[in-house]
Amino acid sequence: MDIIEYDALILGSGIAGMTAALHAELESGGRLHIALVSKTHAMRSHSVAAEGGISGVLYPGQNADSEELHAYDTVKGSDYLADQDAVERLVRSAPREIKFFEHIGVPWNRDAHGRISERAFGGMSVPRTAFAADKTGFFMMRALYDEITAHKGIEVLHEHLVTSLIMDRGRFLGLYAIDMATGKPLLLRARACVIATGGFARVYGFTTTSYSSTGDGIALAYEAGLPLKDMEFVQFHPTALVPSGILITEAARGEGGYLVNSEGKRFMADYARSKMELAPRDIISRAIISEIGAGRGMKHRESGLDYVNLDLRHLDSRIIDERLPMIRDITNKMLHLDPGRELIPVRPAAHFTMGGIHTDIDGRVMLGPAGRAASGLWAAGECACVSVHGANRLGSNSLSQCAVWGRIVGEGIARYAARHHAVEEVRMLKKRAEAEEGRINGMLEGDGHEDPYAIMGAMRLTMDRYLYVYRTRSGMARAVKELRALRSRLRNIRVKDRGRIYNSNLKDAIELWNLLHLACAVAESAVRRKESRGAHFVLEHPERDDRKWLEHTVIMKGLGGNRVSYIPVRVSKWKPEKRVY
Ligand code: FUM
Repeated sequence: MDIIEYDALILGSGIAGMTAALHAELESGGRLHIALVSKTHAMRSHSVAAEGGISGVLYPGQNADSEELHAYDTVKGSDYLADQDAVERLVRSAPREIKFFEHIGVPWNRDAHGRISERAFGGMSVPRTAFAADKTGFFMMRALYDEITAHKGIEVLHEHLVTSLIMDRGRFLGLYAIDMATGKPLLLRARACVIATGGFARVYGFTTTSYSSTGDGIALAYEAGLPLKDMEFVQFHPTALVPSGILITEAARGEGGYLVNSEGKRFMADYARSKMELAPRDIISRAIISEIGAGRGMKHRESGLDYVNLDLRHLDSRIIDERLPMIRDITNKMLHLDPGRELIPVRPAAHFTMGGIHTDIDGRVMLGPAGRAASGLWAAGECACVSVHGANRLGSNSLSQCAVWGRIVGEGIARYAARHHAVEEVRMLKKRAEAEEGRINGMLEGDGHEDPYAIMGAMRLTMDRYLYVYRTRSGMARAVKELRALRSRLRNIRVKDRGRIYNSNLKDAIELWNLLHLACAVAESAVRRKESRGAHFVLEHPERDDRKWLEHTVIMKGLGGNRVSYIPVRVSKWKPEKRVY
């Protein structure tokens, strides 16, 4: 097996990963040899699908805005589960990052005075979301990719699927990868690594996320015995197009769109009187499902999906042309409808996973619920739970998180790599890589009989049914049982294509392995939390319970099953209060 040596590895090529690579390169003055490893072509990472914008207080004082207010909105939006020191770091750093992206070429929309425009987003007290039409993620990715390719110290490994994270006694050693184009296994060795592989909303069937959002890095960390945090909190975006699930940006409501039920009523007046369609996503998603449950939804004939309508008909067509052009394109292409004249069918879809790899405030991966961080290992972006979003993320805070912690971890690994030598553990590394090769060969050459696509379908059905917007105790218990039963079938999987080159059946089987372990972690964390907070709403426990549950859930792989424990939320300024909008 070929061993390739680098100074640092960045696993994942979305906005967090590319930002980390770029800042590692800049911080080191070009002295590091960095590999940016992506299972797709780097530019096809899910970050390109980010639509509405990035939050940050660019003009303090304007509309009485301040970093303090941004922090307060974020903490309240999180239903008080966010760690407040991390939130303060996010809001303090976000404006600088928006300007950094300006300098590397993102064409932010501007007002008549040439200043960066800001639009309204859910749960934010004032407009503070910068945007590039409704293709913000794409423009940020393009600017980053242009920079990355101009820096000789960064090598991009496109289409390399990493299947194992190799650690020894709390120290990062390397990654086992398959070069999809040749089918060859590779051992990537480096002093430091950042995991930035995004979220895992593909555990659900109805989702806004791309097929690549399979939580690979989170599953690698879990398999390596590292802790995951707050896995029960999955965000459902209120307005996914029916029946495809494609995202209809919250910016459509930020620009003035309404949500209406089958009676044509703007029903948000009954759920969030002051913020209406710009309440946080957990509240709007519940409102939509409640309307549907009360018989005030519509049914899509072919898919059977229930929905409500998004109404943009009253908007000036220039707003759609200049600020929401992709929404026009998407609705046109997918449903042959003109959003200026017709209603758009929408319902909540899995969109963002608040939980992920447990890190400290500097993005260093923790070894246990508390105590020491791993040596040489960081995580950033959606795969990391630094805990800025708590139980419910506010729209447009995720791009800020990716930009802010992308820089933090990039600079962190550059400093670490300058101070540390490679660990002389080649023998151990090879042994572990051989074991992983055995697992992969077993999948390719074994005589398993389980169809991975059938297991994948069953997993998604269970998640859609029992771990959606409203949850029940019996439903969650059932999900745990069903998901564990599915997980036990993984060892008998049959990979149909037995070839090595571009074996997408093998890739799908590995992704299923990752997703199913994460789905179990979601269900097992959810069933224990006996309260409702943010996106985790349990019908039998409809209230938040700060006395017992102002805590993060930490879940780790144990010998006889997962081990669950709790650590306190870090509260600095904002004591939990009733969350009304
Ligand atoms: O609706 C949106 O444009 C999504 C933004 C986000 O998830 O931050």
